[in-house]
Formats: sequence, structure tokens, C-alpha cells
Amino acid sequence: MVLTNMKGGVGKTTDTDLLAITASKPSLFNQKVLLIDVDLQANTTSNVKRTFNQRHFPQSFVKAVQSGTLKNAIFPLTKNFDFIAGSIAEHELTDTIIDNSKSKRDRYLYLVKMVDEIKYDYDYIFFDVAPSTDTVVDAIIMASDYIIAVQEVRKMAMEGTSNFIGKYLQPMLDNFPEEAHFQVAGVLPALLTSHKKRQIENYRETVEVYGRDNVFHTIIKNHDRLENFGEDGVSLEDYNDRKMFGLFADLFCELEARISSFEKTGDVENFTYQSKYFDALENITLPLGKEIEINGVAE
Ligand SMILES: Nc1ncnc2c1ncn2[C@@H]1O[C@H](COP(=O)(O)OP(=O)(O)OP(=O)(O)O)[C@@H](O)[C@H]1O
Ligand SMILES: [Mg+2]
Repeated sequence: MVLTNMKGGVGKTTDTDLLAITASKPSLFNQKVLLIDVDLQANTTSNVKRTFNQRHFPQSFVKAVQSGTLKNAIFPLTKNFDFIAGSIAEHELTDTIIDNSKSKRDRYLYLVKMVDEIKYDYDYIFFDVAPSTDTVVDAIIMASDYIIAVQEVRKMAMEGTSNFIGKYLQPMLDNFPEEAHFQVAGVLPALLTSHKKRQIENYRETVEVYGRDNVFHTIIKNHDRLENFGEDGVSLEDYNDRKMFGLFADLFCELEARISSFEKTGDVENFTYQSKYFDALENITLPLGKEIEINGVAE
């Protein structure tokens, strides 16, 4: 899985990390998850350090790729949740890929074997990537099954996502019909405004642009608590934390429902999803959300 877009600062890293933590949590979805930090800003690595109180990791993603296997870089954070750290040296990865590839095809497929070697150990692998479409991101996307296009809902950003899908992802599928196997799971609206009326208008507009079926029903609003997670690490210590876990529980359930639809029918026609954990627009915890145990991030 990759949550991405070319636009910076729309919450890709925050959303990726929360989704990975929520999916892996034993008292929630109990999935075996690997989170990999591919961005040289290493924001996910900072989040993980703060959240899990870890300082050292065996090997960074770039060193692992340079060594030809990701295996030795895997660090278990909890029983279900493994991690590969990022580092500023991530910029070397572009050179590594280019220097060791004879063709465009080699470059695009550079990571596929390394991901294949470990993927059967996991239910989900999440990559946190930089806001760009560079050689590294090309190779990550080619190794992925599903992409979530995180969309800041504003006019300028809307065009960005259309271009991202039409002019970046689609040509990859066209150029490598045999090898590219990713689907766009949907457009995830990041409604980074606090005006409720405007949020609803923006959501409607996103649906108009991308089509009802292609837009996640779960929306990520501007939440102070998510901003705090970025500063202090993720926590599940009080009712406001629980709301955020409810939000990402819904996002995970909707993602699984979308994946299941793609796997069964190759499409998401007439897709709907009803929130079960948290109603983001009304800021209300729903019945299943109330059952989320306030028991810390790591179990
Ligand atoms: N839904 C949200 N509500 C409020 N603050 C948020 C939300 N999502 C993220 N933030 C905050 O916004 C900042 C940018 O978020 P984040 O790093 O997740 O974005 P990004 O898209 O990964 O950025 P980049 O493109 O630089 O990788 C962080 O300070 C984060 O804590
Ligand atoms: Mg980021």
C-alpha cells in the first residue's frame, strides 16, 4: 500500500502511520503489518521513535536495498508490527537504482524481487514516500498492489491528483502491462479546513470530479489531535485519541471493503461504506468506536 500524491504536507505520513498502527493492533484488526519509511525527510521514523520509544534501528531502507535484501532491516515494534527505518541517505537510493539498472524497465522493477521476498510474511506492507514522482517512487509504485491518492480538497490540488493519476500512474500501467499490478484504491479526501459547510461542499466537489465510487467515504479532517500526534508521537490514552483510532479503524475497514471489491469484480462499482467507529463530520464516536479499548498504542 502507498498513500501518495505529489503535493506535500497533506497528511500522507500521518495517515500512513495511523493506518498501519490501527491495522496491526491486536485488539482491533490484528493484521501482520510492515511499515517502511522511504522518504528522506524520515518523518515516519521520527513518529515511530516518539511513539514506541525506540532510538536505534538495525539498518535503513536505503542500506537494505543496497545490500540486496530487506530482511536484515526489519525491526519488530510490537508482536504484529514491524518497521524499516528511513534516513537522510535515502537520496542515494536514486543513484543506486540508476547505476545498477540497464534499462527503464530494470529501474521500474528494481524493488519488486526484494519486496516479493518478504511480502508473504505480512497481511499489509505500507510505504511512506516523499511527495514526488522520482525514480524511487516509481520503483515503490511498481512493487505495490494498491495506491491511495490523498487529496487535499482545494481546486488547485484537485488538478494535481487528476494529473497524478492520468499522467503518472496510468502511463505506468500502459508501459508495463505485464508487470504493473497496482490499483488506485480510491481518492482519500483530506479536508484541511475547519468550516463544516465548506468541508461538505469540498467533499461534494471531489465526488463530482472523481466519481462517487472512487472517493473514500471516510474523510480526514483537520484534527488537532492528529497534529499533536505529529509532535509528541501517537497515543491511545484518552477519548480524543480514541476518536482518531475510530477514524482510522473506519478507513481501514473501508480500504478492506474496496480491496475485496477489486479482487472480486475488478472494480468498485456502486461501492458504499457506512462509518461504524467515528462520524468525522459530526465528530461523534459511533457504537463500535466506543468499544475501542483505551489501552495504549503498543499491546
Ligand atoms: N488531519 C490532520 N489534521 C491536523 N494536522 C495534521 C493532519 N494530518 C497531518 N497533520 C499535521 O500536518 C503536518 C504535515 O503532515 P504529514 O507529515 O503527515 O504530511 P505529508 O503529506 O506526509 O508531508 P510531506 O509531503 O512533507 O511528506 C504535520 O505537522 C502533521 O502533524
Ligand atoms: Mg510525509
